Formats: sequence, C-alpha cells, structure tokens
Amino acid sequence: MRYGEVAAAQRRPLDSDGGVGELIRLATLAANSHNTQPWRVTAGDGQLVLRPDPTRRCPVVDADDHHLWASLGCAVENAVQAAPELGLHATAAVTDAGVTLHLERAPAADQGASALIRRRQCTRTPYDGTALAAEELAALAAAGGDDGGVELRLLIDARDRAIALDAILEADRRQLTDAAFRRELFHWMRCTDGEALARRDGLAARVMGAPRLPRPLVRALLPVVLSAAGEAAKRRREMASSAGLAVFTGPAATPAGWIAVGRAYQRFALEATRRDLRHAFVNQPVEVAQIRPAFAAALGLGDRRPDLVVRFGRGPLAPYSLRRPVAEILTPAA
Ligand SMILES: Cc1cc2nc3c(=O)[nH]c(=O)nc-3n(C[C@H](O)[C@H](O)[C@H](O)COP(=O)(O)O)c2cc1C
Repeated sequence: MRYGEVAAAQRRPLDSDGGVGELIRLATLAANSHNTQPWRVTAGDGQLVLRPDPTRRCPVVDADDHHLWASLGCAVENAVQAAPELGLHATAAVTDAGVTLHLERAPAADQGASALIRRRQCTRTPYDGTALAAEELAALAAAGGDDGGVELRLLIDARDRAIALDAILEADRRQLTDAAFRRELFHWMRCTDGEALARRDGLAARVMGAPRLPRPLVRALLPVVLSAAGEAAKRRREMASSAGLAVFTGPAATPAGWIAVGRAYQRFALEATRRDLRHAFVNQPVEVAQIRPAFAAALGLGDRRPDLVVRFGRGPLAPYSLRRPVAEILTPAA
C-alpha cells in the first residue's frame, strides 16, 4: 500500500465490536513527541496498562521525559473518550509504572469522539490569518483547561504573541545550532515514503512539508534544510498566519502532572478538530530549559512551568502521520 492508503487505513472508522484492540488503535492516534510513539501497552483482565517505552526517549530535546509522559497522557485521553463507543467506561489511574485504564462494561454511546480522534492531526502549514470568534476561543479554553490542575492561557493580543515569537525564535536558534539536537531530530526524520512506511514512526517528510529525498542527500543538505535563518523565516510566517497560541501549564513537574497536561492538550485538539480548526506545536520555548523561566515570567505565569505551546487557526488539512501496528506495542499480560 502507498503512504496515503496506509495513513487512511490506520484512521478507518471504529469497529464497535473490535474490543480493546480498537481502543488501543484509537489511543495511539494521539499526538506524541517526534512521533516516536513512546508507549507499550499490556492488556489484562478488565484493564489496559500504558507504560512509557524507554527505547523511544528523546534525551536531547526531552531530557526530563516531560514530552514522553505528556505523550502518554494524550493516548490516555483518546482511550477514555473512545471507550463509550466500544461499550466501555474507562477510568485512568496514574501509577509508578504508567497509567492503568480500568475498563467496565457500559451501554454503548457514540458521542462522536472516535471520528474526531481519527481526523485530528498536527498541521504544520501556515494558516489563513483570520481571527477566531470569542465563542470559538471560549470553547477551546474550556476544553483544554480547568481539569486535573492544568491551566490554559490563550495568547491572542499583539504583546503576548510578540513575547511568544521572540521566545520561539531564540529557542529555535539554540536548538538548531546544537549538534546533539540536530542528530536526534535527523534520527527521527523519515526522509522518503519508503522509510516512513518501513518504520511507521518518526517525522515523515510529507507531513513536515519537506521534499522527499534519499537519506544521504538530506544528511548532506541538512545545513541548508535546517538553517537557523530559514527556520526563523518559516516560524515568523507560521506565527503571523495563526489566530493565536495556547500555553498549557501543569499542576506539577512530575509524570502525573505531565500526563494531565497531555490529556488537556488532547481535549483541546479534539475540540479544535470538531470546529474544523487546525493546530501545531511550537514547543521550543518550553524545550530549552534556559529560555523557559524567562518565557513564563514575561507571560506572568508566576511559578507555574509552561509545558506545551500550540498555535492554532484555520486552514486545510495536511498529510497524516503513520503509526506502528497495535501488535508491535501490545504485550499480553503475564
Ligand atoms: C509532548 C509533545 C511535544 C511535541 N512537540 C512538537 C514540536 O516541538 N514541534 C512539532 O512540530 N511537533 C511537536 N509535537 C507533535 C508531534 O510531532 C506529532 O504529534 C506527531 O508527529 C504525530 O503527528 P500527529 O499529531 O499529526 O498525529 C509534539 C507532540 C507532543 C505530544
């Protein structure tokens, strides 16, 4: 199958008789850092346990595993929201190992979550520059905040957006001039459809809006493809075209706090999808530890740590990313 066919097949409609296999498929369509899909799932009696997969860490961009735990939270939220369509009620409990989803039989109820989960994507193109209505902003704010101790701040006015742009540009510059960051990013880049299809993870060129070229050629061209000046121009365009930014701060800098942040982002993203709005992460200011406190202070976030930054607006959908097969992440209970 070709790339687009595989991506579409992975987002086929939910088979309501498909049980936990379907629940896991929907869970893993969640956003996750660098599309490493850093999770393992164990299916047991009336439960699923989601654990981080340490082999899929990103030690440079995510030294404290903050993104890894947030990614797990994104998958948990998808599972909780999709469960009713499978006649299940899922309750999430954070443990030292990860997250246990307790599954109970419940009358099947279709609130449309699986359709949104299948349609959601990070859209890295520029948007159309139009503003959002107050009602749209209120719906996004309600979906993404005020639960599990997560706070969501929407940056709409020119001052806040300028603060964010400055922080993004400076953090981007530092990352792009860091050889270890570039090595890690290149490791997760899938330069051709063939590479993406073979691994079904990582950042596919067609998803990133990059030309599809053989890996050795991309390696040789990396100084041009990922030049600090080129990326800065791209960021400015993206930000100018966006209606605003969402900054998520979690209740605590712990795995449980980051899981809560991931869940809040995923709710925000599903609500945006429901309203045919697009979004993409611009996390640079929270990834570079030397920038993060100044970014938080400039936005008046007090001692709360900004965990995720997302731009949003209107625009067409872009190509979808791939996922590994459920069988590859599933470990039967011992
Ligand atoms: C915690 C977290 C951090 C992320 N950071 C970035 C980022 O800095 N830049 C970016 O372009 N995408 C970022 N993403 C988006 C992922 O790359 C994306 O979710 C993944 O490639 C899968 O694609 P999809 O969300 O379109 O399904 C992040 C996602 C998560 C959950």
